[in-house]
Amino acid sequence: MAVMERIDELDCWRDFADVLEAGISRVLLYGPSGTGKTYAALHHNVGNAPAERLVCTEDLTSGEITGTWMPVGEHRWEWREGPGVRAWRGAGGRGGRLVVDEVDRASGDALSTLLAMTDSPESARWRNPETCEWVRPGPHFSVVMTSNVDDLNDIPISLLDRFPVRIRIDRPHLAAVASLSSDLRGSALAGSLGPAARRISLRSFYAFDELRRQCGAARAAHLVFGDEVATSVLDALTIAALS
Ligand SMILES: Nc1ncnc2c1ncn2[C@@H]1O[C@H](COP(=O)(O)OP(=O)(O)O)[C@@H](O)[C@H]1O
Ligand SMILES: [Mg+2]
Repeated sequence: MAVMERIDELDCWRDFADVLEAGISRVLLYGPSGTGKTYAALHHNVGNAPAERLVCTEDLTSGEITGTWMPVGEHRWEWREGPGVRAWRGAGGRGGRLVVDEVDRASGDALSTLLAMTDSPESARWRNPETCEWVRPGPHFSVVMTSNVDDLNDIPISLLDRFPVRIRIDRPHLAAVASLSSDLRGSALAGSLGPAARRISLRSFYAFDELRRQCGAARAAHLVFGDEVATSVLDALTIAALS
C-alpha cells in the first residue's frame, strides 16, 4: 500500500467525491481514457437503482435516449422508455443516475434530446406518447457525463453550458489500481511502463495482469503492449521489483 499512501489527498477523485457529496447533480469528467471515469460515474454516490448508461456515437438516436415503440404482438405496439427517462424516474420516482459517455460525439437529434434530458429540474419535462403522462426528473436525478477528450472545446458548447462543474481526471482511481497485482500498481498510477512514451490505460494493465498468470509475463507483454515495447516493459517491471 506504500504507493497508495503517497497520493495527494486533494486529487481529482477527491474533487469528484466532494462535488457529489455537496449535492451537485451535473458533473463532467474528462481526460485520458482508461482512468476509471465511466466506472466512477456508474457507481459513485448512486442510490438503490443501478445507473442508466448512454454511449454517444454519431448514430445515437433520440429514441435510444427517451424510448421507442416496440411490437408486443401481431397488431400491438408498446412504448418502451429509454435510459434517459428511466433515470429521471429512478427507484420509486425519486430519480437516479444517468451516465452519458463519450459526450464529445453527441450530435444532431440526440444532442437536442440530451439537452432536454439534462435541462434544469424546473424546466425539464417529457410526455410519454402512449400514456400521455407528463414525466419530470425525480429530486435525486443526477447526470455524470464523461469524455476522453483533453480539450473542453471539443465538447458541444450547449452541453457544456449545462455542466458548470468539469473535472479533469488525470490519474487512475486508487480502487482500480488496488485491484492489480502489487508490482503493477506504481506503473498503473503513473500510467506508463518503461520508456514507452505512450500512456497506458488501466485496461491494458488488467489484461497484462490476467494474461501473465496464464501464459507468462513475456508472452503477455507481447500480446498486450506489442513487439516494439514488450522488452522494455519487462525490463521496467524487473527494475521496479528490485527497487
Ligand atoms: N474503482 C474501480 N474499481 C475496479 N475497477 C475499476 C475501477 N475504476 C475503473 N475500473 C476498471 O478500469 C477499466 C477502465 O475504467 P473506465 O471507467 O472504463 O475508464 P475511462 O472511462 O476513464 O476510460 C475498466 O475495466 C473498469 O472496470
Ligand atoms: Mg469511459
